[in-house]
Amino acid sequence: MSRLFEPMQMGGLSLANRVVMAPMTRSRADAGAMPNDMMVEYYRQRAGAGLIVTEGTAPSPDGIGYCRTPGIYNESQVAAWRRVTDAVHAEGGRIVLQVMHCGRIGAVQNRPAGARAVAPSAVRAAGKIYTDAAGMQAHDLPHALETSEIAGVIDEFRRAAANAMAAGFDGVELHCTSGYLPMQFLAENTNLRTDAYGGSAANRARFAIEAVEAMAAVVGADRTGIRICPGNPFNDVVDGNPAETYGALLKGLEPLGLAYLHVVRSPLVYFDAFAFARENFAGAMILNDGFDGDAARRAVMSEARNAVSFGRHFIGNPDLVTRLREGLPLAAFDPKTLYTPGTAGYTDFPPAALPKIEKRQVRADDLAAMKSLVSDDFCGWSNEVLVDQALINRFADLSGDDYWIHTDPERAAKQSPFRTTIAHGALVQILQSRLRMPLEFEVVGFNNMINYGSDRLRFPTPVTVGSRIHGRARVKAVEKVKSGTQLTLEMNIHVVGNDRPSAINDLVILYM
Ligand SMILES: Cc1cc2nc3c(=O)[nH]c(=O)nc-3n(C[C@H](O)[C@H](O)[C@H](O)COP(=O)(O)O)c2cc1C
Repeated sequence: MSRLFEPMQMGGLSLANRVVMAPMTRSRADAGAMPNDMMVEYYRQRAGAGLIVTEGTAPSPDGIGYCRTPGIYNESQVAAWRRVTDAVHAEGGRIVLQVMHCGRIGAVQNRPAGARAVAPSAVRAAGKIYTDAAGMQAHDLPHALETSEIAGVIDEFRRAAANAMAAGFDGVELHCTSGYLPMQFLAENTNLRTDAYGGSAANRARFAIEAVEAMAAVVGADRTGIRICPGNPFNDVVDGNPAETYGALLKGLEPLGLAYLHVVRSPLVYFDAFAFARENFAGAMILNDGFDGDAARRAVMSEARNAVSFGRHFIGNPDLVTRLREGLPLAAFDPKTLYTPGTAGYTDFPPAALPKIEKRQVRADDLAAMKSLVSDDFCGWSNEVLVDQALINRFADLSGDDYWIHTDPERAAKQSPFRTTIAHGALVQILQSRLRMPLEFEVVGFNNMINYGSDRLRFPTPVTVGSRIHGRARVKAVEKVKSGTQLTLEMNIHVVGNDRPSAINDLVILYM
């Protein structure tokens, strides 16, 4: 199995796989910057991601620039977000909140009453922004923050992070790209300041560093990440020397020991943001921009500390991880519904249909019927199942480095050089019953397997509590033998242990 689907630890964040859902503004929030039922369902559907990074979420009313975007600055929003995090956690997922302060980006029609555009300097962004109330509008001319006001804005990030914890998020990410407030401080054309927050690269990086420090102070650095895209000109920002600017930023962040650096490929052809990040950041990295399954597999194979985030593919493929793992086709999405209100193009993408074969009853002595089970399709499919203590108890005394499953403890004791054995027959039983993996056929008289065949199955990874097992099986051949009917199953089983994952592709011979 590719490393893409293996678990990964990012600081204090435990990911079940390395497929991260990238942050995406979808403009579905209710009035008052409130998360709602639609958003609960949207994130729940995508909980198979190793980690979800939410859409950009405002730390204060001033941080809102776009219409129908959510906030995390009051108790009602915290309670509403709690429903999102509960839904994701109930599905076994992990979710961090992306904190996004728009700064000078936005028009007054999109801002809550009394909120104002703030920025390092009073420089209006070129271009226009969509508003529900009045269509396309020029961006507001921002208020240049006084030096004395900056601590208050940093405090908004601190409170947002504290609120995110109260809402049950697993962590937080600072949105430090796309020309929003932290990047407005970093960029040369938007930061004309002459105080400690302007001028040199170290000074321009100060705001972002202080914002991350404030968030990490309440959440823990090991649950705090930052997202950058050096050289990104989006929203009218210019940076003549991204190596210098982001060098200063990453140097300032280094002592914190963040959970991860989320780095988006730079649009500048001369600047390799991934290589730059690799050289200037020691921790886990989430790489983003334009990945497909193959490119993601290669990226995570190249370095053990890499994960990959997908944005657009997650829109039409709520079960993206399953589709990538099983090689199923990916669905497209309609760009027209990216930011429109309502469920269309948002929560109405179904998961892929997994190949399924009708359940049949077959007598073991009905050779013709048995033979009809032989097919090229996999006829059994398991959900990933967490191995619990009850399952371990069933095969008692699992210890040491090698594990075998055997249904017959006496025989196991006699034959195996290992303390506990697990044979194929038991594996079939596990897949059928314990692991909720129905082999999609039922064999009448399948009660007593008299022999399990000579080959045995070795799990290189200990099957411990907390391991996960999933697999598929198909009938490969059916033959009449002296002792009855011989059924050859092809099994493809993945055991994802606490540390080392392993895959087994094996033929299992059953005599009935
Ligand atoms: C609809 C949409 C909304 C986005 N909103 C955000 C956002 O809120 N925060 C952010 O950091 N990036 C945002 N992005 C950028 C994505 O996170 C991602 O970097 C981009 O889509 C490229 O990745 P992809 O090729 O896998 O889609 C958005 C992208 C899309 C398509």
